[in-house]
Amino acid sequence: EKGGYEHFMLKEIYEQPSVIKDTYRGRLHANEGIIQMSGVEDNLEKFLNAERIIIVACGTSWHAGLVAEYIFEEFTRIPVEVEYASEFRYRNPIIGSKDVVIAISQSGETADTMAAIKLAKEKGAFVYGVCNVVGSSISRETHAGSHTHAGPEIGVASTKAFTTQITVLTMMALRLAKAKGTLSNTDFHRYLQELEIIPEKVKEALETNAKAKEIAAVFKDSHNCLYLGRGYNFPVALEGALKLKEISYIHAEGYPAAEMKHGPIALIDEHMPVVIIAPKQGHYDKIVSNIQEIKSRSGIIIAVVTKGDTQVRELADYVIEIPETSDALSPLITTIPLQLLSYHIAVMRGCNVDQPRNLAKSVTVE
Ligand code: F6R
Repeated sequence: EKGGYEHFMLKEIYEQPSVIKDTYRGRLHANEGIIQMSGVEDNLEKFLNAERIIIVACGTSWHAGLVAEYIFEEFTRIPVEVEYASEFRYRNPIIGSKDVVIAISQSGETADTMAAIKLAKEKGAFVYGVCNVVGSSISRETHAGSHTHAGPEIGVASTKAFTTQITVLTMMALRLAKAKGTLSNTDFHRYLQELEIIPEKVKEALETNAKAKEIAAVFKDSHNCLYLGRGYNFPVALEGALKLKEISYIHAEGYPAAEMKHGPIALIDEHMPVVIIAPKQGHYDKIVSNIQEIKSRSGIIIAVVTKGDTQVRELADYVIEIPETSDALSPLITTIPLQLLSYHIAVMRGCNVDQPRNLAKSVTVE
C-alpha cells in the first residue's frame, strides 16, 4: 500500500508529478491555449463581477490560499483576501453578494472551514470549493467547485494536496485572466506551456532528495529553524516551517524575508539554521542582501536556489538546486525540497512521520 516507500508521506511526496498532471488533465490544453474548468465556466459571470475574492481555509490549505492571493491578484487584478476560516467565522465579517468566497480543503471535512462557508452563504456570497475528497461535506455545501485529483492523502502532513491545490487555483486564475484580458496573450500562453511541463520539473526537484537527506543529518538535533521567502515564496516559507514543526517537533517559523529586521534577526546566531528560498526569478537581489545580513550575524544558511546559481552559493553554507520556472509557478517547485528536508529530519529523530502526535488527518472539531 505504501508502494515500496517507507512512509505514506514519502510516497505522497513522490506522487506529486503524476497527481499534478491528473489535476490539470482535461482542463489545461496548452497547445490550444484553453483552460476548461466546468465549475468556473458555469459561473464565469459571478467571478467576473466579483469585487473581491475571499479565500478561507486552515493550515496547509491556508498556505495554498496565500499563494493563490499572489497569483490571482497578479493575473486577474481582482482584490483577494485570505482568511483563517476560524477567524473569519467568529468576527461578523463584512461580506455580501458581490464577494466570491473560495474555500480550500483537502479533506472537505474541516469544521471551521465548513462553518465559514455556511456563514458566507447566509450573507449572500457565491462560494466555490477546492477539495480533494469527492462527496465530502465541503464539496457538497459549496455552490460549485473544482476538485484536486491528488488521490487519497494518508500522511497527516499534507504534501500532494498542497501542490494540487495550487495547480487548480493557478488554472482558475489563468482562466479568469483570459476572460478579463488582464494578462497579455503572450503571458497567458507562456504560463499554460509552463504549467504543462511543471510535473517534469517537480520530478527534477525530487532529485534533491539525497541532498535534503545530507542536510537533514546535520540539522536533525536543532531546536529552532527559520524559513524565509519573499513574494510567491513567502507562503512557501510558512509551509516549510509548518512541515518541519508538525512532523519533527522542532520549533520553526516562516517569515517574509524583509521582516527579519523587524524582530526575528535578534534570534540569529551560530546555532540558528535559516532556510532561505532564493530562486533566480523574483526578488533575487533583495534575498541576497537578506542572506548577507544573516551571514554577518553568524547564522547558518540553507538556500534553495535555481540550478546554476553562483551568487547565493558563495554566501550559503548549504545549497539545494531546483529547476528554473517563472516566479508565479515557483511555489510548485520550491516546496518539494522543503517537504523532503522535513521528512528526513523527522525520520532521523525517530518521529512517527505519518501520524505525528496530537494531530488528526481531518479536524472535525472546532
Ligand atoms: C498540515 C495539515 C493541516 C491541514 C489543515 C486543513 O500538514 O495537514 O494543517 O492542512 O488541518 O485541512 P483540510 O485541508 O483538510 O481542510
